[in-house]
Amino acid sequence: MLDLRTPPTHPLVAASILSADFGDMAGDCRRVLELGADLLHIDVMDGHFAPNLTMGADMIRGVRRHLPHVNLDVHLMVENPGHYVEPFAKAGASNFAFHVEVCETFKPGGIDGHALIEKAHTLGMTAGIVINPPTPVEALEPYLDAVDLVLVMSVNPGFSGQSFMPEVLDKARWVSERVNRHTRIEMDGGLNPQTAPLAAAAGVDTMVTASALFGSDDPKAVIDAFHACGLP
Ligand code: DX5
Ligand code: ZN
Repeated sequence: MLDLRTPPTHPLVAASILSADFGDMAGDCRRVLELGADLLHIDVMDGHFAPNLTMGADMIRGVRRHLPHVNLDVHLMVENPGHYVEPFAKAGASNFAFHVEVCETFKPGGIDGHALIEKAHTLGMTAGIVINPPTPVEALEPYLDAVDLVLVMSVNPGFSGQSFMPEVLDKARWVSERVNRHTRIEMDGGLNPQTAPLAAAAGVDTMVTASALFGSDDPKAVIDAFHACGLP
């Protein structure tokens, strides 16, 4: 299985199943993986942190059953990610990424992010910290040495198909100056063959794509275009 801690030789394509066919989930996932997608990105939303309800442990378990060897990158857009760390690990999640906006270092009464990262590691997952477009990048600072992945959102969480926000590119640059080569820098939202090169130039090495990939008549060309972006 792909290990996110291993520095990649080309940008990794994380296919976001939010735009897959929910009636043929395993089939749709298998197709994009056969075409070259490197991992699957699973968007979990609770209707509070993000204005949408999506999926949870049952989806992770179902995808894992059909695809035992794929890295499942789970992105939790929820108020209480700690509630899900054990169930998601048991269901087969590979990476557990939660938002800095729910952590006590950012909001009083928030969760202990360091304890959650440690717990994810103890349960055999890698761990990621995620930042929303309006949040100052310095909020990430306390977690940079502890996580395996930093996810910079390039849309506000909630839905696939939104437009890329180029103003977040500076955040990726800021992160890339501070993490070592075993930490992935991921971007999520509005990535397509036009915007992916901008992300790569800013230091992004893991690219999430939902609508541009699953909505394309030629998904292989989309994956190839992401892979062709050089790494800095
Ligand atoms: C947004 C989700 C994204 C979304 C990306 O809240 O976190 O992963 O699926 O969709 P696109 O690639 O269509 O912008
Ligand atoms: Zn996501």
